[in-house]
Amino acid sequence: MALLDICTYPDPVLRRIAEPVDKIDWEVRKLIVDMVETMYEAPGIGLAANQVGKLLRLLVIDLQRPDCGHGLIVLVNPVIVATEGETSYEEGCLSVPDYYHKVRRHEHVTVQGFDQHAKPVEIEAGGLLAIVLQHEMDHLDGKLFIDRLGLVARDLFKRRWKKRLKEALTEPAQ
Ligand code: NI
Repeated sequence: MALLDICTYPDPVLRRIAEPVDKIDWEVRKLIVDMVETMYEAPGIGLAANQVGKLLRLLVIDLQRPDCGHGLIVLVNPVIVATEGETSYEEGCLSVPDYYHKVRRHEHVTVQGFDQHAKPVEIEAGGLLAIVLQHEMDHLDGKLFIDRLGLVARDLFKRRWKKRLKEALTEPAQ
């Protein structure tokens, strides 16, 4: 097992569209194990392969809430096959640290894909799981939650982020 580095905005890898996984081989399974480890360590409740610099359609989720009825979810080549309703939730992202904002999403989604054993899975989700599924699947298409903000919020975010980067660059060396 190995902890992976999480790429952060504006890393261009977060803007690339991930490729379908054509075989769940030893290498892919190792990546899954490392992604799970990295997600728990961060700590986060979801991680997509783009975020660790791998352009594969692969994500892991664990809400770490016993009441949600799901433990660890591994999804290879996930697709949304049905959506219903609308909701909004204050989202954050391991690739956009220390920033949270409300984002509009579908309230319910049905997702099909494969697990780490190449077994087909279908997940019908509402609540936080529906949000996280949509957030992680956006990553696979090179999208970040900040892309879904309104113009004013996105502009504020960009300014705030520029300031943050500048501060990081001018921090005195220890
Ligand atoms: Ni994210």
